Amino acid sequence: MELMKIGILISGRGSNMTALVDAVQSGEIADAEVALVVSDKADAGGLAKAAERGIETVVIERRGRTRAEHDDEIAAALRERRIELVCLAGYMRLLSPGFIQLFPNRIMNIHPSLLPAFPGLDAQRQAVEHGVKVSGCTVHFVDEDLDAGPIILQRVVEVKDDDTEETLSARILGEEHAAYVEAVRLITSGHIAIEGRRTWVTKSNH
Ligand code: GRF
Repeated sequence: MELMKIGILISGRGSNMTALVDAVQSGEIADAEVALVVSDKADAGGLAKAAERGIETVVIERRGRTRAEHDDEIAAALRERRIELVCLAGYMRLLSPGFIQLFPNRIMNIHPSLLPAFPGLDAQRQAVEHGVKVSGCTVHFVDEDLDAGPIILQRVVEVKDDDTEETLSARILGEEHAAYVEAVRLITSGHIAIEGRRTWVTKSNH
């Protein structure tokens, strides 16, 4: 059976990327291969972590070009390697409509809140400042709106009375890694159905 080729886009430390690569390499995510990690930042800490794991990396910086030009270059790198599934993992840019249309329902993202609450930057700080009692993380498909595409799965994390942005972020991050691995496993094994905004698991793959 052909392995499904995954490309991961990062901008920073890459802990979600590492969780996905490790799950593919251990066989927890079966029948898939992480074929490329793309960073838009040359100094992203995740680049070294990907290279250590034997994954090809490329840096494609924005450098004063338009969003569409930048995304075209990323898309070309992904298509050259026949990537079928694109995972955003701390990738800090909005993708252009042209890029999104190239991979229909094949771009995923992880966000550190229970969407649609607290989209955008600093979701964990927004949660602490708002005073919510639970937050968590969301894995979703990417569409043209920020942090708004169809939700694949969510995990809930308690917000404790003495939480700071840092302590809450750390607790959510642990759940992010598990949630992203689970969601990618469901996608690569063909167990996610989608209709409009709604997605569901078609049968258990345990
Ligand atoms: C994570 O909190 C993710 O949810 C958000 O950006 C952060 C990236 O962290 N989109 P890492 O680079 O995966 O460690």
